[in-house]
Amino acid sequence: MAFNDIGIDLGTTTIIIAQEGKGAILNQPSIVAVDTRKKGGRDYVLAAGDEALAMVGRTPNYISAIFPLKDGVISDHTLTKELICRFVNKVYANRPVKPRVAVCVPAAITGIERDAVIEAVVAAGARKVYLIDEPVAAALGSGVDILQPDGHMIIDIGGGTTDIAVLSLGGKVKSTSVQVAGNIFDDEILKHIRTKFNVAIGQRTAENLKKQVACCRQREDFHETMEVKGRSLITGLPARLNVSTDDLYEPVMALCEKIGVAAHQVLERTPPELAGDVYRNGVMLTGGGALLHGLPEYLSEKLKVKVVVSPDPINCVALGTAMCLSLDDVLETGFQDATPGIGKFH
Ligand SMILES: Nc1ncnc2c1ncn2[C@@H]1O[C@H](COP(=O)(O)OP(=O)(O)OP(=O)(O)O)[C@@H](O)[C@H]1O
Ligand SMILES: [Mg+2]
Repeated sequence: MAFNDIGIDLGTTTIIIAQEGKGAILNQPSIVAVDTRKKGGRDYVLAAGDEALAMVGRTPNYISAIFPLKDGVISDHTLTKELICRFVNKVYANRPVKPRVAVCVPAAITGIERDAVIEAVVAAGARKVYLIDEPVAAALGSGVDILQPDGHMIIDIGGGTTDIAVLSLGGKVKSTSVQVAGNIFDDEILKHIRTKFNVAIGQRTAENLKKQVACCRQREDFHETMEVKGRSLITGLPARLNVSTDDLYEPVMALCEKIGVAAHQVLERTPPELAGDVYRNGVMLTGGGALLHGLPEYLSEKLKVKVVVSPDPINCVALGTAMCLSLDDVLETGFQDATPGIGKFH
């Protein structure tokens, strides 16, 4: 591992860059603000990350805020490249030695999208590019020893996708990826408030409700309420209302159940010896969604195993991505040297 190698978690909602030994060195939302009055025939990027997020809802019509990695897939190649270049340059401006870069990409991306990511990382100055699957990176960054012949289960709940995998001997044995993650929780909370209270709320308000008020089980000790502001669908005027944990139970529970079913299906397909290991080692929950109140307890009940939250659920994927650069000889699957012209796959 060289001193300037970096790992990038190319997340649907957040891009995190980490370095082994230093931890996370950049954490920015995966968003760009573009001026749609085309310059030279294409949209012009005004800002990326935090700067772009601050513009949301406060810009003239010709400026749009776009998440180019929406729902776990790269919906806009050009803007994704622009994001990667800007962030890598932020971290690497004026350094003489080009870095080796490992990138954790969304599980569902296609070959063409992968090529676009590799191209962007090379354009941003990488000497070598590696791609790594999210559950492998999440496990490494959470301190799980996946190099031994011992099964571990990872459930990574991000913004766009939930990635579930059983890992052993440095690679994936069984895995799945479902598009039930943080963004869908926000959408369903927003819709539920609309139907139940006839009030339209914004996406960020829905996300705040999810983080602070929602709970995926009915717990005696957890009853929160939050005052939210929106627009009444009846009068068309501004409205405020108090939303409680009980009000959100129905949509939140329905989605948690889908995650539980997907995890159950992976366990059903896991060879018995490894399933036994998972029973003994428990399940590691990672990604921002791991912080949803009541989720570890719910999954533990559903899967009949111990479920623990990663010591650093938000940064673990970036940390693990940076770590994989020193483990390139021992990782069996879910890791590849993607440097153009080399193509060592495994
Ligand atoms: N305390 C919390 N409770 C519930 N959800 C949370 C909490 N904190 C963050 N989240 C959610 O976690 C999600 C972001 O997680 P993360 O940063 O792991 O996603 P990502 O890596 O960008 O996405 P993906 O892995 O799908 O590409 C968002 O939907 C966010 O609302
Ligand atoms: Mg992620």
